[in-house]
Amino acid sequence: MDKHALPSFPINIMGLDFPNPVGLAAGFDRDGSQINSLNKAGFGFIELGTINVNSELEFDDELENIIRNLEYSKNQPTNHALVGISLGSLRDAIDEYTIADYLQGMEKFWHYSDYIVINLSRPGSSARSEVNNKEGLRSLLQKIKQGHVELCEKQGKHVPIITKVAIEHEDRKTLPEALNIAYEQGFDGLLIAFEHWPSSVDVITTVREISALTNKLPLIVVGGIKTEDEALQILNAGANLVQCYSLLADQGPTNVKNMVRELALKTKENL
Ligand SMILES: Cc1cc2nc3c(=O)[nH]c(=O)nc-3n(C[C@H](O)[C@H](O)[C@H](O)COP(=O)(O)O)c2cc1C
Repeated sequence: MDKHALPSFPINIMGLDFPNPVGLAAGFDRDGSQINSLNKAGFGFIELGTINVNSELEFDDELENIIRNLEYSKNQPTNHALVGISLGSLRDAIDEYTIADYLQGMEKFWHYSDYIVINLSRPGSSARSEVNNKEGLRSLLQKIKQGHVELCEKQGKHVPIITKVAIEHEDRKTLPEALNIAYEQGFDGLLIAFEHWPSSVDVITTVREISALTNKLPLIVVGGIKTEDEALQILNAGANLVQCYSLLADQGPTNVKNMVRELALKTKENL
């Protein structure tokens, strides 16, 4: 056995086997050019993108480049991390063009995604504002889900779809309940980004509330997670998986590997 191999503790959610519950958050590897080294760092899943699709373009060089990277990494036998594709749209308003952007992204990356993320968390975007308007959120998720169902039928394969929403501290009383819309609309999971929260105790309480209020919809949590103890507390509060960005960006891949290893040992004891 490879003495450097990480202990395995697979998590099965959304019909997928995640090798471990620590993932890389979106924004770090936007184009899939680092998948091999991110696998070596020990991540159980890697979220690529956010890829902003413009459905009015006939040919998009950037997207073709990402697909080439994905084709290449698929053929590497040592890659075990699952790949999520984070999709976005740069439109100023939410309209039929925005929906078309998300749907085109899904279709384009269908065969390269273990799961698809509808990113509604981009700072300053109209999609992010829509999350705080219940009817707007319902209508947006419903249209995207309808396109997803049609694609599942057309492609003969279900690719789980989740949505990433950012939650700010001031929205902690109102937003958790609204997130049940993702469950209601048939999404396979939720990815919650905690940004600029003053205390980790509040984060843990809110994860617990979201988990209860969304009918135990599979939950991925990101934001401020830098140690295995922080990750473990989030998992114990009801998250199924966690993601990190700054841990890798600020502290490097060795820390990721240590976190996965320690978490594996502690999870076996504590979960
Ligand atoms: C430079 C930078 C770029 C990012 N780009 C994206 C992005 O394209 N899509 C996205 O969903 N999140 C993006 N994020 C947010 C991260 O995915 C994550 O939610 C956030 O950094 C909090 O996690 P952390 O505390 O572990 O860093 C970005 C973050 C940073 C710092």
